[in-house]
This record gives sequence, C-alpha cells and structure tokens, in this order.
Amino acid sequence: MVVQLGTVIVTGAAGRIGSTVREHLRGEVGRLVLVDRVPMRPTAPTERAIQLDLTDLDAVVEALEGADAVVHLAGLADEAPFADLLDSNVLGTYHVLEAARRHGVRRVVLASSNRVTGFYPVGQVVDPDAPVRPDGFYGVSKVAVEALGRLYADKFGLSVVCLRIGSFEDEPIEPRYLATWLSPRDGVGFIRAAITAPDVHFVTAYAVSGNTRTFWDTAAGEQLGYLPVDDAERYAAWVPGSETPSDATAFQGGAYTSPEYSLRHVMAPPPPS
Ligand SMILES: NC(=O)c1ccc[n+]([C@@H]2O[C@H](COP(=O)([O-])OP(=O)(O)OC[C@H]3O[C@@H](n4cnc5c(N)ncnc54)[C@H](O)[C@@H]3O)[C@@H](O)[C@H]2O)c1
Repeated sequence: MVVQLGTVIVTGAAGRIGSTVREHLRGEVGRLVLVDRVPMRPTAPTERAIQLDLTDLDAVVEALEGADAVVHLAGLADEAPFADLLDSNVLGTYHVLEAARRHGVRRVVLASSNRVTGFYPVGQVVDPDAPVRPDGFYGVSKVAVEALGRLYADKFGLSVVCLRIGSFEDEPIEPRYLATWLSPRDGVGFIRAAITAPDVHFVTAYAVSGNTRTFWDTAAGEQLGYLPVDDAERYAAWVPGSETPSDATAFQGGAYTSPEYSLRHVMAPPPPS
C-alpha cells in the first residue's frame, strides 16, 4: 500500500509496537523520526533517530519540529512504581501534546490501554464512552493520558486519537488473549488509520483484532476506517484452557486486577529473615 503520510514522529520507536510500526510505515512516509530514550540507528534515508527522555520538554519540542503526525507510543507499558508512571506516561504525554500544540501538528495518536477498563466483567461489552475502571496504577496513568488528549483537543483544537491497545502479541497464547489479542498487522492497521482518518476532533477506540470472544465495542475503531483482519479464535485449539467457558462475572483485566499485581511496586520487600 502506498500512502503518503508526510513527516511522522514515532515515540517509543525502539519498543515492541514501535519497531513493528517503524518497519511497516517506513515506505509510506516522507520522513520517519524515531524517538526513544534508548539509542537507535536509522536504517533508511527517510529515517532519523533522536535519543531523548520524554521528561525533557525542550528536547521533545525540538524533536517534533516539522511533524505532520505523532504516534506517541513511548512510556512504561505495565505496572511500575507510581512516580515512574507519572514521569514517563503522564508528564511525557503532556510534553508530547504541548510540543504538538506549539508546532501545529495535524494529528496526535496516543497509546492508551485496555487496562483503563479492566474492572468491568467479562460478560459486559464495554463501550469506549463507559466510565473508566482502571485495573492498576498503570491503568490510572493511561486514564490521565486520555484526559490530556481530550484537554488538548477541546481547549487547543488538536486532533487526537486515543487507541486503547489490546494485547499486542504475535499469537494469542493464553485464554484472556482470545478476547484481547491485537495482531501486529491489525496493530499497524489501526495506527495507520488513526494517522490518516479525516475530520477527527477527539476519538477513543479499542484497538483489538476481530476476535470472536472480544468484550469491547469496536465501532469507534471501525469508524476510523480500519476493519481488523485477524481473529484469535483461529488459534484457540492451541491455547491451553480455551475450551473452559469463561466466567461472565470475572474481571476483564484478569490477573492484572489482583491487589498483589500492583502492590509489589508499592510495598518494600520484607527484610531478609
Ligand atoms: N504491548 C501491549 O500489548 C500494549 C497494550 C496496551 C497498551 N500499550 C501501550 O503501547 C505503548 C507501546 O507499548 P510496547 O509494548 O511497545 O512497550 P515497550 O516497553 O516495548 O516500548 C516502550 C518504549 O518507550 C520507551 N520509553 C519509556 N519511557 C520513556 C521515556 N521517559 N522517554 C523516552 N522513551 C521512553 C522505552 O525505551 C521503550 O522503547 C505503550 O505506551 C504501552 O503502554 C501496549
């Protein structure tokens, strides 16, 4: 597919999703600017790599110079000490949006997460407009990411798409993923659509493959112009436990919702006995 996307900044370009997106968008953009706090090497004449920490506003403003769109993926991608989540996910997103505002960037795509609604039961189809029920401190940081996006859209007229990314994996390998899996090609498809969709003020959409067992309302994603092509059900026979019917009252966030999952980052480890 040849789509001319102009200058696109990808933050978190060294990460799992960022490196997949980089590979696929490389041939479709005029210029691809790869931003991360770890070093990267450009591998095409159209690529440029910038090493920075998102907590440095001046560096982020400089990096976004000339951008048509920003795909903001950088951040801590799971439960972590709260101060670190505030730095990388909340302050970092504020800096990206503020830099985008100053440069008049046409579109900002923010990586949110399905973990903003992990406390809904499996038996309920959740719409992106439903009240948030984050399943941990990471989920709370992504609620803040979405709120910052909304603020910059409403107050400053930025065009913002928040993608609530499902479980980005090569294949679904556990029962929860049969509902939450986002295949790499569908991930790239949603991100490409989020960059190019016309007439967006602010949209929040679940980015998830077309899984038979999904518990999210995917209409908003489809309205961005992308219909997912994969379905985790194709792999169900190889997923241990997939034949057991899921408990409709269990939380969608599964193990992420347990107190222990979050508390290991809050409580000091017990002294050696
Ligand atoms: N992988 C998933 O299944 C999934 C699901 C939901 C949401 N997300 C979100 O998608 C985004 C990408 O996820 P991923 O799996 O590629 O994560 P990842 O951990 O593989 O990549 C994140 C990248 O961000 C960079 N980074 C972190 N903090 C930074 C900072 N302060 N300054 C500069 N760079 C920084 C890291 O160096 C890393 O390369 C994240 O925001 C994550 O929360 C991912």
